[in-house]
Amino acid sequence: MDSFVISGGARLAGTITVSGSKNAALPILAVSLMTDEPCSFRNVPVLRDVQTQVKILNTLGVESTWGRREVRTRVKDDYNSTAPYELVKQMRAGVCVLGPLLAKRGECSVSLPGGCVIGERPIDLHLRGLAALGAEITLESGYVKAKVPKGGLRGAEIYLGGKAGSSVLATDNVICAAVLARGTTVIECAACEPEVVDLAHCLISMGARIDGAGSPRITIHGVKKLKGCDWTVIPDRIEAATFLIAGAVTRSPISVVGGRPDHLMAVIDVLRQMGVEIKRSGKPTSRTNVMTVVPTDRLRACEVTTLPYPAFPTDVQSQIITLMTLAEGTSIVTERIYPERFMAAAELKRMGATITVANGQAVIHGTGKLSGAQVMASDLRASAALVLAGMAAEGETRISRVYHIDRGYERIEERLGRLGALIKRTADEAVEPASAGG
Ligand code: EPZ
Repeated sequence: MDSFVISGGARLAGTITVSGSKNAALPILAVSLMTDEPCSFRNVPVLRDVQTQVKILNTLGVESTWGRREVRTRVKDDYNSTAPYELVKQMRAGVCVLGPLLAKRGECSVSLPGGCVIGERPIDLHLRGLAALGAEITLESGYVKAKVPKGGLRGAEIYLGGKAGSSVLATDNVICAAVLARGTTVIECAACEPEVVDLAHCLISMGARIDGAGSPRITIHGVKKLKGCDWTVIPDRIEAATFLIAGAVTRSPISVVGGRPDHLMAVIDVLRQMGVEIKRSGKPTSRTNVMTVVPTDRLRACEVTTLPYPAFPTDVQSQIITLMTLAEGTSIVTERIYPERFMAAAELKRMGATITVANGQAVIHGTGKLSGAQVMASDLRASAALVLAGMAAEGETRISRVYHIDRGYERIEERLGRLGALIKRTADEAVEPASAGG
């Protein structure tokens, strides 16, 4: 297992380019199962989770070759329609092959995703939506076994809201299943995340008929078959947010290139409330648009609640808490998606932060500074929060188990290093335990 050793306090300068979105790429790669034609997926980030997804597709008969941040696929056979526990337990998003397999092959068996450090990760909404389309679903020995009735899936009106509102991957699975179903499907309380919109647009480029993606009501008119695709994945808004906060915590006017400011309105608003302006240039959708951090020495406390898009994203919650530890005053973060998702808090307290966590809420008393310490990464976004904290802290911080961060951030120590951050990766002993999440 690798560790990062970070010498804090360095000011950063320069530009950093945003990678393709992990959370768009993972479900979009699964649409390769839905066509007999070749597909090409571009701007795909080179990440462990993406490699795991490609392995899952390979076990399902999809041939794949990697180009430069591009994955080319073609279904060579459909003998196996079982997505195995060994791979799905490493990455929950493996569950998003359910809809594509049901739609194209009429039956599948997908391992239930493992537990996850950020909290319970049920898939009841996925199963409710697929059953509404006529799928016959049983749970056997830790696997979801699903098959379509004679005559195939048929369109339906489906309310897909759960206790935390909409579900991103459940929406993805139901869209994919409905695209090749007979008739029309209406999904009410659909997830509005940009990654869902990117999936829908990719399917539309393959011949699917989908209206309303990005709104809570999506209408899908089933078609008989889909063509292949040549699709470029959107930039990663969570990575872009992490880099903006890196500028804020180190009080550095860095520029983040190729992010989508229109996907980051809630994050930019919270940064502004805390005293950090983000200067923008270029069209939001252009790959060359620039967001430049205008840092401040006087960070203000703030109150944030995480909710489904377009509200403040749960995947940026750990990172904004790091910034709040440096602000004057008391900040409050209410986590409505994963109420236990405060793993970074315990580690930040080792660095001198004053944070109390109870009932899905973190109260952060800004101390204005952090001190380097030995800390441990526990999940993807908490790890990113610790890297930000190490860059802001006085002294040296050592973060163990950084394989968590490698799941969602490409070579982050090199890329932040090019801005002037003092981050060294060291190889520690022992092997990596299996991890779930994402
Ligand atoms: C996606 O996970 C993201 N992962 C997560 O990012 C992200 O945190 C999450 O959406 C919320 O934005 C990918 O896109 C690969 P959900 P997903 O279903 O789709 C409850 C990261 O760090 N729920 O939207 O699995 C659930 O418990 C990862 O990149 C049900 O109750 O999340 C949660 O409270 C972490 N029943 C809420 O909905 C279900 O069937 C949102 O979960 C499904 C979900």
